[in-house]
Amino acid sequence: MRDRIVNLVRAGYAGISLITCEEQRAEAELKAVAEALDYRLFAWSTTTGLIDTADGQIVRQANDPLDAIDAVSELPENSLVLLRDFHMFMDDGNPVLVRAIKDELARCRTQGKVMVMLGCRQVLPPELERELCVIHLTLPDKTQLGQVLDGICESAKIDKPEGDERDRILDAATGMTCTEAENGYALSVIECKRVDPAVVAREKALTVKKKGLLEIVEVKETLDDIGGLDCLKNWLVQRREAFGERARQYRLPSPKGVLLLGVPGTGKSLTAKAAANVLQRPLIRLDMGALMGSLVGESEANLRAAIHVAEAIAPCIVWIDELDKGLAGSKSSGGTDGGTSARVFGSLISWMQERTAQVFLIATANDVTQLPPELLRKGRWDEIFWTDLPNQVERDAIWKIKVAQCGRDPKQYDVTALASASDSYTGAEIEGVVADSLYRAFAEDREPTTDDMQQALRDTVPLSKLSDQVDTLRKWAKGRARPATSPEPESKHRRIVA
Ligand SMILES: Nc1ncnc2c1ncn2[C@@H]1O[C@H](COP(=O)(O)OP(=O)(O)OP(=O)(O)O)[C@@H](O)[C@H]1O
Ligand SMILES: [Mg+2]
Repeated sequence: MRDRIVNLVRAGYAGISLITCEEQRAEAELKAVAEALDYRLFAWSTTTGLIDTADGQIVRQANDPLDAIDAVSELPENSLVLLRDFHMFMDDGNPVLVRAIKDELARCRTQGKVMVMLGCRQVLPPELERELCVIHLTLPDKTQLGQVLDGICESAKIDKPEGDERDRILDAATGMTCTEAENGYALSVIECKRVDPAVVAREKALTVKKKGLLEIVEVKETLDDIGGLDCLKNWLVQRREAFGERARQYRLPSPKGVLLLGVPGTGKSLTAKAAANVLQRPLIRLDMGALMGSLVGESEANLRAAIHVAEAIAPCIVWIDELDKGLAGSKSSGGTDGGTSARVFGSLISWMQERTAQVFLIATANDVTQLPPELLRKGRWDEIFWTDLPNQVERDAIWKIKVAQCGRDPKQYDVTALASASDSYTGAEIEGVVADSLYRAFAEDREPTTDDMQQALRDTVPLSKLSDQVDTLRKWAKGRARPATSPEPESKHRRIVA
């Protein structure tokens, strides 16, 4: 980032819009840029006026942004000028200010002066869009987060963590700004007299969630919690070490992502969570509904911010659950929301295509008719899997898992009969049936039996019998997506028509 600004200044750019909420770090970066180029650095805000950062002296008591621009015209050549909060003055497209900036930019270009407008949001009137180069300050890297950590340890007079412990703390802090990391470290010192990676990770989860779109999901689920879906599970296991050093040396291509399509309740979300356990990376859920529901104009900025955090935490897994619901409006977007959903979808697609950070995407969806065809194109994903209604073998496994999960021994139940009786039920429905039978038995103060489960099964009408949606989805998936389950072996029994 620093190099990029240095190059822009050298190339004679007169205006830069620097987007970040980390003012101090941005200022430190600009100081380094000024030093590298032997430029002087001035800083302006409406409260302080224009200040020479070398000696802290006020150059002009200009509290009005127009005065500030005027003051820039009197600065010497080879100056960098940091203008704080300028986006707020341009929010309403103030025509006098916009004109003044344009005039000054033209002068700056010939005098080696650069105006850097610093703000936490990208607000540029169209008149200035082509005049300014927009740069998003990347989140701090581990070296910077380490410096903050050392600072906190010095203030708290505790030993600086080293080796693995230090790595774990810095891993936990990636994705936070310097201020957020400093707060996390300090809170940990107060709570447990040392910087504990778990406390830092917990604070990161909270800061990420506060921004509204992302949530770091704590995962307990493993592949053993999934009944069936053997092909999908094998595929994930093959990628177990894909983000490790060994994979890099082997030149294994970084896995991009997987799209899980299928019948509702067949374990797609469950698999996404278990995948985080297999790949041993943090799972970050991106809320597409909230993203699309944000105010027009903010959606794109929000997506950019979310991508920014995810890339800083990389290698990580970004999970987009129920992608179909989030994208439902993107096709007809022009008529309904001025094209916002379509634009956000476009940004998402281009990020998926171009991202270089090790972010593994797992998206789940069931209503494939809502998904734009561009999303299903081969090459977007490493694989598109289809999760169907479970077959006999899978239902057998699901029954055993669900019975064991409620603290009962599956051997006490006729699981084979239950699996046969639950043909065309999903995993979610089997889970519901087990819960229902527990209620029945609990009300009579006894243990649930196979009969209770059979009865609960008979009382539950599976979704696949209620609507032909499942049939439509299945027809669509044939040939388009890879089955998550290997085909059932052909029956070896003689077929007798009685
Ligand atoms: N194959 C399975 N093995 C074990 N549990 C399952 C399986 N399929 C579904 N379940 C259980 O059913 C519930 C719903 O599953 P999940 O949320 O993963 O379904 P989904 O495919 O994401 O459904 P939707 O399309 O409605 O989001 C979960 O509690 C999960 O544990
Ligand atoms: Mg789901």
